[in-house]
Amino acid sequence: MSEKIEVLITEEQLDKRISEIAEEINRDFGSEDITLVCVLKGGVMFMTDIAKKLKQKVEFEFIDVSSYGNSTVSSGKLTINKALETSIEGKNVILLEDIVDTGRTLSYLIEYLKEKNPNSLKLCTLLDKPSRRVVDVKADYIGFTIQDAFIVGYGLDYAQKYRNLPYIGILHLDEE
Ligand code: IMP
Ligand code: MG
Repeated sequence: MSEKIEVLITEEQLDKRISEIAEEINRDFGSEDITLVCVLKGGVMFMTDIAKKLKQKVEFEFIDVSSYGNSTVSSGKLTINKALETSIEGKNVILLEDIVDTGRTLSYLIEYLKEKNPNSLKLCTLLDKPSRRVVDVKADYIGFTIQDAFIVGYGLDYAQKYRNLPYIGILHLDEE
């Protein structure tokens, strides 16, 4: 099996789009403080790049979730591997995701974060694959809407590899 990566979104395109989203957030939040909640590990590159373009006082929080067990057919049940470390009560929270696929992770996290009584909660995803949606969720800020393909790079992995690519690519698994 060989792994080939076809470039889908270049480093330059990522930088331009992330600047545009940051401008939207800057417009929407003005001088209000923001807490960015990054979904590990895929959202890390996105968080660090977008955070540098935000003009508010920005706090960083990280959360890690995974599906129960190892089933390939997702049960829709998620478990928190790493919880928030500080209170988000009364804060303006923006949840940062790498990609929204079935929507299960995002819908679970929305409920989880709402229970913690933030002042506001917005959802920001770099990538959106709406054709794969099982749970009806929509992000407030979307970087790129993409076709149904397996994506790697810029934080996203295949078996923990390729997160460090500076661009986004489609992974092709070819039998040799
Ligand atoms: P969900 O199906 O919307 O719950 O997506 C959950 C998680 O699956 C995402 O946050 C990603 O970490 C991962 N994921 C979904 N699609 C892809 C992909 O194309 N490449 C890499 N990871 C993915
Ligand atoms: Mg993710």
